[in-house]
Order: sequence, then C-alpha cells, then structure tokens
Amino acid sequence: MGLNKLKLAVFISGRGSNMLALMEACKRPDFPAEIVLVLSNRPDAKGLVSAKEAGIATEIVDHKGFSSRETFEAEVQKRLQAYTIDYIVLAGFMRVLTAGFVDQWLGRMVNIHPSLLPDYKGTDTHARVLADGKRETGCTVHYVVPDIDSGEIIVQKRVPVLEGDTPDSLAARVLEQEHVAYPEAIERLAATHKNA
Ligand code: GAR
Repeated sequence: MGLNKLKLAVFISGRGSNMLALMEACKRPDFPAEIVLVLSNRPDAKGLVSAKEAGIATEIVDHKGFSSRETFEAEVQKRLQAYTIDYIVLAGFMRVLTAGFVDQWLGRMVNIHPSLLPDYKGTDTHARVLADGKRETGCTVHYVVPDIDSGEIIVQKRVPVLEGDTPDSLAARVLEQEHVAYPEAIERLAATHKNA
C-alpha cells in the first residue's frame, strides 16, 4: 500500500546539513514525508546546491530586496502557493518570522533549535551554555508560534558538555543529534497528522 507522504517545504539560510539529513531520511521507502521545495532567503546558501542536485525544486526570496518583513513574507507566501505543502520545516532559517506569517502556518510549521528549550532561546546558544558551566545541552524540534523558540516541543535530544568543549566542538556534537532529531520529529508529525 502506498504511503500518503507529508509534503515538506524546507526553509534554509546556509549550510543546510539538517536539510541533507532530512533528504537522506526521505530516501527510505517507509519514511512518511517528502521534500517538495527548498526555500532560501540567501541566494548563496550552500544547501541550495545540494537540493538542486537532488532534483528538488528551489525558491530564493532574498530578504535584502524587501523593505519590511511583511513584504518579504508576502513574497514567500506567494511562492509557496505554487506547491502543495503540508508542513514548513525551518532548518537553519535565520530570519525571524512575524506573527502574521506564523499564524497562517500555525500547527503546520516546525523549527530546530540548538539547545534544550525552554533554556537558551535565541542565538549563540553554545557559548552561553559554556559560560554558564552547564553539564548538558542538546537540541529541540518544536512547533513555531509567534513567540520565538517557544512552541510545543516535538523531540529533544540531550548532549553532554565535555571538559575542554568550545562553542564549535559543542555545536558539532549537538548537530549530530539534530540530524537524528529532525527525521524523528517528522515521523511524529506524520503520526499525529494521520489522526488529525
Ligand atoms: C543548526 O544548528 C540549527 O539548529 C541552527 O542553525 C544551524 C543550521 O545548520 N538553528 C538556529 O539557531 C535557529 N535559531 P544547518 O544549516 O547545517 O542545518
């Protein structure tokens, strides 16, 4: 029996390693989702190259060409209309989205954040974790709500802070867990989606 796969639009701003982890997961025949679009706000995002190579549709909406968040988001929304999308998956998308946009996708947009939310919302999470002398950090996949990094948690992975860790070494170890967490979170979304 063919799976009715969730259609994902992955939003990136740079490297796109989480997007790549999701692309890998999507190759599994039993994985309940497919990526129908990769959208970037930066024309030079490395992830765009990998998406194109894999034959995935890409859209670039360069935020620098817009005078406000609202006009940028209106263009994003317009581009999305050409696709059938069940969920927006923010994967290193480094633009804050306004409540106006978030509300249009409430319950259908998720994000990955490199900390154990609700701790360490915002940027520079690993440096702040180290400065506070924490023994543990991790990553969180959560629904996106208008308040930044605050929506319902879908999956968390814990990562120990090791002696001698730097923000970079910690980021790398957390990133490995992000690549496990995001596919797992999408599987959970699919499970709840079916019952919705
Ligand atoms: C990831 O560590 C992700 O958690 C973080 O940016 C990185 C993107 O890496 N996201 C945020 O900080 C969101 N506020 P990637 O482009 O290789 O997936």
